Amino acid sequence: MNILDIIIKKKNKKELTYEELFMAFNGYHKGEVKDYQMSSLLMAITINGMTLNETLSLTDIFIKSGNAYQFNKKVSDKHSTGGVGDSTTFIVAPIVASMNIPMAKMSGRSLGYTGGTIDKLESIPGYKTVLSEEEFYNQIDKIGLAVCSQSEMLVPLDKIIYALRDVSGTTESIPLIACSIMSKKIASGASYIVIDIKVGSGALIKTREEADLFASWVISIGNHYNKKVKTIITSMDEPLSSSIGNALEILEAIEVLKGKNNRLKEVSIEIASHIVSMAKGISVDDAKILSNNALKKGSAYKMFEKWITTQGGNLNAIKISNKVFSLKSNVTGMIKSISAINCAKLSLKLGAGKINKDDIIDHSVGIKLLHQVGDKINKDDILAEIYVKDFNLNLTEEDLKLFVIN
Ligand code: URA
Repeated sequence: MNILDIIIKKKNKKELTYEELFMAFNGYHKGEVKDYQMSSLLMAITINGMTLNETLSLTDIFIKSGNAYQFNKKVSDKHSTGGVGDSTTFIVAPIVASMNIPMAKMSGRSLGYTGGTIDKLESIPGYKTVLSEEEFYNQIDKIGLAVCSQSEMLVPLDKIIYALRDVSGTTESIPLIACSIMSKKIASGASYIVIDIKVGSGALIKTREEADLFASWVISIGNHYNKKVKTIITSMDEPLSSSIGNALEILEAIEVLKGKNNRLKEVSIEIASHIVSMAKGISVDDAKILSNNALKKGSAYKMFEKWITTQGGNLNAIKISNKVFSLKSNVTGMIKSISAINCAKLSLKLGAGKINKDDIIDHSVGIKLLHQVGDKINKDDILAEIYVKDFNLNLTEEDLKLFVIN
């Protein structure tokens, strides 16, 4: 077998063996398989799929491409498959850590239209997103919570394959997403893992059927490595919170930690409850009561402050832009929908994410939605506040089409 035989075998819808997958992917990691050959194989996988066996093999090959973390106690982790206005980590992590369930999380940056936890954390002046292995372990021992950027040695094969998928039209393959996410979760050493699967127009996974398949696969992969994995499926047709943009999302998460009720809180409680249920061996309903209490009693917020300050962040120094304009409704009616994808595109145009690799993120810009689906609206009501770096930004009517009202 050579790489060409392997590509053709997948093109012909045949199952690849561990050895064949190893030859192709490890060969790519070593530079022996070329970009055009790997792109072709990835496209064959995206079109023809992979069996669960192939997916397990590839996950294993990914994990073995780097270092795995090992903790001296059981730690938890969570992952969202990518969304808009999704700042659940800032709420879930302190809730569970406040109940003595450690969370050790390595997070990524924004990808395409979806926001990244590390970019959001960088809107807190002083917050140290890069921790050495020793600092990461020490912080887990000391306070039971650390969130840092992925180490260079955490599944390096995923990094190069992801970069290639991003530019070869192969990001939406369910088995490839499962390998990519689960290899990183398993290598990061967590025993209890919750995967929040986003479905909808603003998400990588577009349909409920795909989400169900994905859920069953990540659970099988987790079980294979003796990890407890739970999945939840949440809609990403609309942004998860009313703030989109780095600093704005941190501030919104703080409001939830201080008692605000919204969908962001509901989803965060759902994720936290599954972790607590697995870690404490109690029902999800009982875990939900404990998670809600952690918010109500302020222990989650206290843990949030401890975490951020331990990692060097100054919560009082978070800045949002003082250049704000109001987006007004030009009709009277009811809000039928809020487009997650259009909010994401606008926030990208404002500078909250990267369009080109070398762009510098502006943490202070973004969107604050002032209404929800179902709200009655009069002409000229303010629908959203748009935080910009300067008022001369050329925003078109198309850019500002966030709400459907009729
Ligand atoms: N997040 C990842 O880490 N990998 C994917 O493939 C998709 C989302």
